[in-house]
Parts: sequence; structure tokens; C-alpha cells
Amino acid sequence: MTFTAPGLSDDATKKLISVMQERLSAFNDLHLTLKHIHWNVVGTNFIGVHEMIDPQVELARGYADTLAERIATLGGSPRGTAKAIEEDRSWSDYSVGRDTVQAHLGALDLVYVGFITSHREAIAVAGDIDPVTEDILIGQTAELEKFQWFVRAHLENPSGELSNAGANSEAAAADQAR
Ligand SMILES: [Fe+2]
Repeated sequence: MTFTAPGLSDDATKKLISVMQERLSAFNDLHLTLKHIHWNVVGTNFIGVHEMIDPQVELARGYADTLAERIATLGGSPRGTAKAIEEDRSWSDYSVGRDTVQAHLGALDLVYVGFITSHREAIAVAGDIDPVTEDILIGQTAELEKFQWFVRAHLENPSGELSNAGANSEAAAADQAR
């Protein structure tokens, strides 16, 4: 590295950038997944969920931009290509095609579980290195958790139980929620 933000060590910054690059690819994957759902959702409540998804797309795209520019600010080179997504991700491609609102939201809930869990792990890494990056990740997580609640509110019954409870794959969550 030829420069980083004042007061950060090169080694710590490299570790931080590595985590942020993975989160950047995760956001790039998330906004593609959300558009895929926006296009493939069918049936009862179509228009409400079709339109609910687009602000989530815009948020994910904006947060990818924030992380990419933070990587550049720290002296790194953000990778924003499809190949970078493929190389960085440890999760499978979203697996549900044309399907009902409930099936997609059941599966999308699991997408958010994975994303938010990893974002919280990134917060922990950033917290040891750079509170400024940590602050960015914390703010993003709060909004993502709110969107997950929008999704879960469609899966919830009056007792607060989720229709996809206990499912450990997108396909199983879709089946339970459908
Ligand atoms: Fe659209």
C-alpha cells in the first residue's frame, strides 16, 4: 500500500480492506438478487412486494458505493466486477425462480440472515481496527435489519411466529412459506 487514512497501520488496513471487499461483493450480489425477486415474484400481493423491493435495491447499491469508496479512501482498489462477486462469495446463487410472494419472502429472509450475520462479523473486525469504518457498517446494518423486518412482517402470524421458522435452505424456507 502506498497510503492509507492517517493513524492506521498498513497491516491492519489490509485486513480491514479484505473484509470490506467481501462485503462489497456481498452488496453487489444482494442488489442483483433483489432485482431478480422484483422480476420473478407473482400472485397475490404482487404489486406491494414488487414495489417494496426496489428501495431495497437502491439501498444495497448505495451501500456498495459507500464501501467501495471507503476501500479507495483507505488506499485499496475496490473490485466491482461480476468475477469479483463470484470469487469473493462463499454462498450459493439465489435459488428461487418465478414463484409466489410468500415463497420469495421466505427465501429472502434467509438471504438477510446470512448477510446481516456476516455484516455483524465485519463490524467486529472493523471495531478492532477503525471506528470510522465500523460506524459505516453499523449504520448499514440497522437499515438492513429494518428491511428484514419488512420481509418478516409478511411471514409472521399474530402470535409472532414466522412461517419459514427452522428452515435452513432457501428452498425449504420457500416451501414452508408458500
Ligand atoms: Fe422494475
